[in-house]
Amino acid sequence: MFWGEHVVPRLTDVALGTADVRALRERAVSRARGEVVELGSGSGPTLPLYPDAVTSVRAVEPSAVARRLAARRVAAARVPVEHVGLDGADLPLPDASADTVVSTFTLCTIADVERALREVRRVLRPDGRFLFLEHGLSPDPRTARWQHRLDGLQQRLFAGCHLTRPIDALVRDAGLAITDLSHDRLRGPGPMSYLYLGAATP
Ligand SMILES: C[S@@+](CC[C@H](N)C(=O)[O-])C[C@H]1O[C@@H](n2cnc3c(N)ncnc32)[C@H](O)[C@@H]1O
Repeated sequence: MFWGEHVVPRLTDVALGTADVRALRERAVSRARGEVVELGSGSGPTLPLYPDAVTSVRAVEPSAVARRLAARRVAAARVPVEHVGLDGADLPLPDASADTVVSTFTLCTIADVERALREVRRVLRPDGRFLFLEHGLSPDPRTARWQHRLDGLQQRLFAGCHLTRPIDALVRDAGLAITDLSHDRLRGPGPMSYLYLGAATP
């Protein structure tokens, strides 16, 4: 409990706050525009990186500690940032009310990820875009075997974070159409490092 609630959000803030990750985040959100919904906004590392075309951010984040860590970045943001909910799988937002939905390193952790992605599709305007930067299942069979072996431990250590989610398939299965997808790697252990960086439309 203490570990998951207090330590993991701080570890995440540091581990995903490196210059390498920042560059990946910048790439991921470079096409964000208009009214943004950010799933699992965490300690807010993406907030300073939104381009000028963004007019507001509605943040969905269950962790009170992460929200406290984000306070400085929220206060410094160029656009209004409002915390609107606790669960990406149950967005308290009307249909077709967002120009962009952003998820960075969050689809790994949302318990009901299928439902969260259906929510993404529901809240996006017809010309809206889902932008994602996620780690997930590697196409390399050896790495994937390790991912399956370590998945349970990873979930216990990192507040429900899964190693084996096939992000592209999950996005497509929710009825979203992937328009671009590239892969990169985080520095660090292979099972945690395979990245999916892409965009999808409703
Ligand atoms: C690995 S952290 C990533 C945080 C941030 N997006 C980033 O890029 O650094 C995963 C985040 O997802 C949040 N989360 C967990 N369950 C969630 C849910 N059901 N809906 C939305 N966010 C959730 C966690 O609290 C945590 O802040």
